[in-house]
Formats: sequence, structure tokens, C-alpha cells
Amino acid sequence: MIYTLMSKNTPVLDLEIHGETASILKIVEIHNKKHLPVGVRISEKKTDISSLNKWWQGRSIPASRYGIRDALEIMQVPYTEQLLLKCFGLSLSDQYWINPKSNPMEWNKVNFFENTFSDDVGNVLFGQEVQSEDLDLMSPDNTSDGWLKKKWKIIDGKLCLIKAGSNPFNQEPLNEVVASAIQRRLKKEPYTSYALVWENNYPYSVCENFINTDTELVSAWNICQTEKKPNHVSPYNHYLSCCEHLGIPNIKESIDYMLAVDFIIANSDRHYSNFGAVRDVNTLEWTGAAPLFDCGTSMWHDQLVQNIKPHKDVPSKPFKSYHSEQIKLAGSLEWIDFSALHGIDEECKEILKASAYIDTARCDALCYGIRKRIELLQSLMMKQGVINVNGKTHQEMNLKM
Ligand SMILES: Nc1ncnc2c1ncn2[C@@H]1O[C@H](COP(=O)(O)OP(=O)(O)OP(=O)(O)O)[C@@H](O)[C@H]1O
Ligand SMILES: [Mg+2]
Repeated sequence: MIYTLMSKNTPVLDLEIHGETASILKIVEIHNKKHLPVGVRISEKKTDISSLNKWWQGRSIPASRYGIRDALEIMQVPYTEQLLLKCFGLSLSDQYWINPKSNPMEWNKVNFFENTFSDDVGNVLFGQEVQSEDLDLMSPDNTSDGWLKKKWKIIDGKLCLIKAGSNPFNQEPLNEVVASAIQRRLKKEPYTSYALVWENNYPYSVCENFINTDTELVSAWNICQTEKKPNHVSPYNHYLSCCEHLGIPNIKESIDYMLAVDFIIANSDRHYSNFGAVRDVNTLEWTGAAPLFDCGTSMWHDQLVQNIKPHKDVPSKPFKSYHSEQIKLAGSLEWIDFSALHGIDEECKEILKASAYIDTARCDALCYGIRKRIELLQSLMMKQGVINVNGKTHQEMNLKM
């Protein structure tokens, strides 16, 4: 079937898409190359569709999503790519979609930002009971990324993403809230603020959509596809250089900020789809880094309490394998207001102790862990020679937290 790939109201390409597999078979016509998804390369030959297909199929729910097999069975859909066709590829993180050539639609009548959508897919993904005979599959949940169970919901008129945790500690939603508390105190860069909701004693994080009808989130992964990385260039410098060539403002500050926050929360999963930048879909101008999101896979979330050792190095992503190395890329840490973090362990305790999945020993170990990571970061900053309080070394100073 022939569709037009659209960016909001702008036709980009005419495509032939397979009705069963949802894969792109060929490019029929090129309308507007400037509005192609960032990082997607097509040649005039129109046969080179591998980059385009990778981007398109990457919009579907990943096969690694918690509970996806059962959900597909209930929806009677063989694979997640087919769900893309049920919602015309529409998403709540950008403005791309596919418009059927034989029966064209208008963006303002179909987009999920301005039109209500079915809760059916979200409910199925959350394992809630639904009548499978008459499911409405027109949902932005068909194009959501990530492995945790999640669904979009309109709450008090606002578009919100609700995200579950994972067994056995269900800690990720609480971690999101702790990371928000740390960032609220740091007052440095834009961040996505997460709150908690409880359903059947399970915690879920809730955050507002930071994308609107004029903007799109572009992942660091896609940004990195815009240039080939020369062997001698580090992943960190490659990302900075791609951003600079695209004209994304203030990217070094926001990346260094992210590295410092991730050091504190011992984030182990900052892969290239967990950060990125935002651009205006009409003017194609970049507004800057996306507000920091997805901080949940952190704070020893899958470790037993005896393995919560904040002094021990923690695996990191995306630029270096360990936080002790990755934090060095952030350069000077003098912007961090450590005094603003005093008492954060108490705030953590208030957040964590609400969960039945986190016992007192675990709660204490996590709060101690966060405090120690902050102390470690402060020691690092002092080693950089940034602080020089009356000639005292950091061992002599009382590092009150
Ligand atoms: N507030 C938001 N506004 C717009 N888009 C968002 C928002 N939060 C997340 N997204 C999009 O949804 C995707 C999935 O969200 P998120 O990364 O939080 O899920 P996850 O399951 O924790 O992911 P992972 O597999 O990386 O652990 C993100 O990669 C991003 O594209
Ligand atoms: Mg993610």
C-alpha cells in the first residue's frame, strides 16, 4: 500500500509499505528531503531503504518490552511492527506519521496531541482485563520505546507518560522521583519531573510530555547517525561534534550535567535512546538538549542490599564503561551547588519508604548510597582543585551532607 511519510503537515516521501510486515518496500517519490528524520540517509536511487526502514521499524514497541508477547496475543497482532499501521505511525514524541495515499487524512484530525485516543492498547500492555473483540488500536502506545511497561494517558488535560517498575524491587518509578528531587535542588538544566502514583500497591512514575505539536524529540542515536565516526574520535567527541554541526545549542553543558547526575544516581542505562535533543518541526531549528528523562535504571535497582556498595565503581553508558571514567569527560564540576544537596538522603527516605517493595534495610542502604555518591563527586571536584577553602584539603574538611 502507498503512504506518504509526513512530518506534521509536510509531505516528505511517498512509500510503498507491506501490509503484513509493515516494512518499507520502496521509495516511490521524494517530496522534501529537508524534513527527513534526523540521521536517515536516502540516495536519489530510491532503492537504498535500509536506513529508512531501521528508523521506521525502530518506532515500534521493542520486542524486549515486558509482557509484550501476552499483549500481542490479546490484541491478535502477530508482531509489534504491525501496530505501527494501526495508528498511522503517529507518536507523542515527534510529528512523523504515514498518510494513506488512497484515503488521505489531515494531521490536525488524527494527531494524538490534539485528539483523544483509545486506552485499550495501554490497558492491554498493563495486563488489565479488556474485551478483545472490539479493541480500538488507535493509540500512541503503539509507538512508545523502552522495555518497561508504559502507557500514555490524559490526566487533568495534560498528556502524561505512566511507567511501571520491574521485579523484584519495582524501584524504577521511585528512582525517577529521587532523580527529580536531586535535579530540582541543582537548578541547573531542564529536566523531566516525575511524580508517583500507586495502583494495587504497585508504584508507577508519571511525567508530562515535554514535546508539543511544534516540536520533536530526536534521540542521541539518530543524531550520531548524521556523521560517520572517525576511528580516532571518541564517542563523546563524536556526539558533541554531530550536535555542533547540526547547530544544537548548549549541548556540552547539558551533556556534562547529565554525566554528573548519572554519577550521583549510579545510572547504569544511559544508552543513546535515553537522551537527545529537541527541534522545531516547522522551522527545523534546534531548541537544545531534551530535558533529562529516564533516570529509573539506577540506584542499584536490581541489586540485593548486600551488593549496594556506593564506593565501588558502577557500570555506565554511553561514553565510558564505568562512572569513574565517564565523569572525567564532564570537565570542571564547579557548577554543582553541593550545599543544595544537603539533606537529600532524608528526602530520598521519604520517597522510598512509601514502597512495600523496599524494606528498611534497603531504604537505608539506598539513602546512604546516594549520600556517598554525592560525597564522592564532591571529592572529585576538590581534587580538580576547584575548591580551595582556606588551604584545607578535602580530608580535613567536614563534608556535611
Ligand atoms: N516526557 C516525555 N515526553 C515525550 N517523550 C518521552 C517522554 N518520556 C519518554 N519519552 C519517549 O518515550 C521513550 C520511552 O521512555 P523511557 O525511556 O522513559 O522508557 P524506559 O522503558 O525506561 O526506557 P529504557 O528501555 O531505556 O529503560 C523515550 O525513549 C522517549 O522517546
Ligand atoms: Mg528509555
